[in-house]
Amino acid sequence: MAEPLNIRGFQVHKGYLDPEAQREIVASLRGVAQVAPFFAPETARGRKMSVRMTSAGRLGWVTDRRGYRYEPHHPEGMDWPAIPEGILDIWRDLVAAERLPDSCLVNFYGEGARMGMHQDKDEGDFSWPVVSLSLGDSALFRMGNVEKGGKTESIWLESGDVVVMGGAARLCHHGVDRIRFGSSRLLDKGGRINVTLRAVSAG
Ligand code: SIN
Ligand code: MN
Repeated sequence: MAEPLNIRGFQVHKGYLDPEAQREIVASLRGVAQVAPFFAPETARGRKMSVRMTSAGRLGWVTDRRGYRYEPHHPEGMDWPAIPEGILDIWRDLVAAERLPDSCLVNFYGEGARMGMHQDKDEGDFSWPVVSLSLGDSALFRMGNVEKGGKTESIWLESGDVVVMGGAARLCHHGVDRIRFGSSRLLDKGGRINVTLRAVSAG
């Protein structure tokens, strides 16, 4: 496997998953969505996010009028399904086998969806990296600083790419400015899936 690109401490593994492995992971995510359907999240201020989301694992990340947090249940009440093994394998390979993620957030970007600049900081333990897998349409990913604002750099993430945000980059701002809708054939109706793995509970 080629060395990852290192952009401001973000490790970008281009082409980490081949198309067959991508298809297997998409199939496993269909299973997740059958148990825990995608929902339209809302921020505490009542703004609809443009992505749709669901989760797998012990804890799922949710947002509604009560704000951002991790919850042991889907908003409709069911437990989150287990994280598919093929997804855990990415973490085992790039992070560690002895501490697996508690949370696997699945975001779906349809045409026009984006994700504003933010930090991942709702977890109890920042010593573990965040691992993010891109599937489907390409996305313009922007990487910034721990502090808000300042210089940023962007890269197009393509299907099969994996980004590891650890060390100095763990709390850096990042976001998705736009996707190139229809640029990939992985998902029948187009769009992009981002899978984010996080160790949420301390220790
Ligand atoms: C996120 O940081 O929440 C998503 C990043 C991505 O979609 O690539
Ligand atoms: Mn994030």
